[in-house]
Amino acid sequence: MRIKTLEEYKNQKKKFDDNPEKFWEEKAESFIWHKQWDEVLNWDFNTAKVNWFSGGKLNITENCLDRHLKERSNQIAIKWIANDPNEDNINITYKELHAQVCKFSNVLRKRGVKKGDRVCLYMPMVLELSIAVLACARIGAIHSVVFAGFSAKSLSNRINDAECTVLITSDGGFRGNKVTPLKDISDLAMQKTPSIESCIVLKRTDSEIEMKKDRDFWWHDEMMTADENAPAEIMDSEDELFILYTSGSTGKPKGIVHTTAGYMIYAQYSFQNVFQYNEGDLYWCTADIGWITGHSYIIYGPLLSGAITVMFEGVPTYPDAGRFWEIVEKNKINIFYTAPTAIRALEAKGTGFVRKYDLSSLKVLGTVGEPINEDAWNWYFKEIGGERCPIVDTWWQTETGGIMISNLAGINKAKATFATLPLPGIQACIVDDAGNELKENNIEGKLSIKYPWPSMARTIYGDHKRYIDTYFSAYPGKYFSGDGCYKDEEGLFRITGRVDDVLIVSGHNLGTAEIESAIDEHQNVCESAIVGYPHSIKGNGVYAFIICHEKPSNLQESNKEINDLIVKHVGPIAKVDKFLYIDGLPKTRSGKIMRRILRKIAGGETTNLGDTSTLLDPTVVESIIKESIN
Ligand code: WTA
Repeated sequence: MRIKTLEEYKNQKKKFDDNPEKFWEEKAESFIWHKQWDEVLNWDFNTAKVNWFSGGKLNITENCLDRHLKERSNQIAIKWIANDPNEDNINITYKELHAQVCKFSNVLRKRGVKKGDRVCLYMPMVLELSIAVLACARIGAIHSVVFAGFSAKSLSNRINDAECTVLITSDGGFRGNKVTPLKDISDLAMQKTPSIESCIVLKRTDSEIEMKKDRDFWWHDEMMTADENAPAEIMDSEDELFILYTSGSTGKPKGIVHTTAGYMIYAQYSFQNVFQYNEGDLYWCTADIGWITGHSYIIYGPLLSGAITVMFEGVPTYPDAGRFWEIVEKNKINIFYTAPTAIRALEAKGTGFVRKYDLSSLKVLGTVGEPINEDAWNWYFKEIGGERCPIVDTWWQTETGGIMISNLAGINKAKATFATLPLPGIQACIVDDAGNELKENNIEGKLSIKYPWPSMARTIYGDHKRYIDTYFSAYPGKYFSGDGCYKDEEGLFRITGRVDDVLIVSGHNLGTAEIESAIDEHQNVCESAIVGYPHSIKGNGVYAFIICHEKPSNLQESNKEINDLIVKHVGPIAKVDKFLYIDGLPKTRSGKIMRRILRKIAGGETTNLGDTSTLLDPTVVESIIKESIN
């Protein structure tokens, strides 16, 4: 099934061009179905209605677990590595994982969870998180994983948006030398979540916590009596599999909805082809399961492929900056997938931490989440890959469900800082501001997709209109990604970054509106505007322009108070790096903040600010520049 040569790669592209539906139908045939689909594809980008494999009946966990039991029941499914290097790893086989998932499925069923119910998971990177995700999928409950770095308020907002009935969390989570009090945060959140009926708590850090009678239950108590036999719920192809929240340009986060069959098919297809996974390879994706990369390329893609997937609880710099490489050496990792921000942070610590370890087991390297700069790419290629491992620079999004643009490792050409080419089956294009496709090479524009693919998001939970407005209205008939893109002389794609108000900081998507509204909670703040500025490790740093009622007398104190508010309302990942207190913001006559100008100032530009003639008060700009230089 996997594309193994350049010739096959070209054939697959041709096959898709000749008959797209047949192309995807062939991919679908390798899975277990309870009933065949009636129709491969039905779509309309104007109403953003897309159905793949309608009428088909299946359960994704039977494809992740049950179907492997014949051939690989004693093979490792997940190799879990603890935060503390002295704590033992856990190797869980396909058979054991299947049993644990079935048991936890019964726990959820006993707590009254049914097909279609929403379950929120707020957990550290422990094995039980993967078990819980798969158990939800097994019983047809829709999982909504919330990254364990988010605040109580972010958690309760997400629970309420999806009206989750169960929350699964743990007493605490280990990350480096910190313990995050996840149950305390959950308790705070649950004060404002009327839909939650029960909370299942895993013991991980042995922290002292409160257990509320008849609401909170220990994971281990529940599992003790649970049966290992749990028939999978039979799902329709288009039944919802999960919701995952992502930041938007405006307002509250968007609950991106993925459905069962299309997501499954594309997760496996993209995993096998991009990483060129071979039987027995050890594959490690360092992402957190709180993000889409963890969903598709720690859990679903690898397990669907019968792979060995590594799950790491900790951080790259604990106990020191050699931790990743120590893990690679010790476990003989073959495929390694991480984010540019981690690469830059580790590069900054020097090669001493790398050279201590034998990295010769590595065969393929991957990167995701933000544009990778040339220097980091070269360092990754040379120091980590020993100039022998192809790098796959994979462009995709929460909304796309799987990798859309990337070279296939060792099959087609890699080029530093370029995601290169869309996968066979993906119709990516670059458009100008009017939405016209720019077909020639050596051009720059906005990245769009003009034909559906199986793992595309189907809607925003509870708000289909927002889904249409956000992705399908800028360029009618096309999905708009929100990214800028350059195509070189050979037609290779290089992603240049967001063109909207989403900020990518250390590979995390942050909505400027969310951060601004947290800042505006401060009693001395009238108004604020957030933009990104180039940051050598984080890719983008967070720059805040703030107007106060009274100029703060103690700047440091004010900065701290504001960052505390951000931590409370959003989470620590969104903290401001640079503050500038100003008297006015550059606004157009219609009252819109001209972020283009702020971005330039934040980047240190003081002259070429572009056209400022439409500003209500152009003198504001000079005064901001003056403040920024001071
Ligand atoms: C950015 C992460 C450049 C991009 C899978 C996209 C990238 C956003 C790359 C989605 C890449 C992701 N090169 N930029 N290889 N991969 N991005 O939803 O701006 O967390 O729109 O999904 O990350 O972030 P998300």
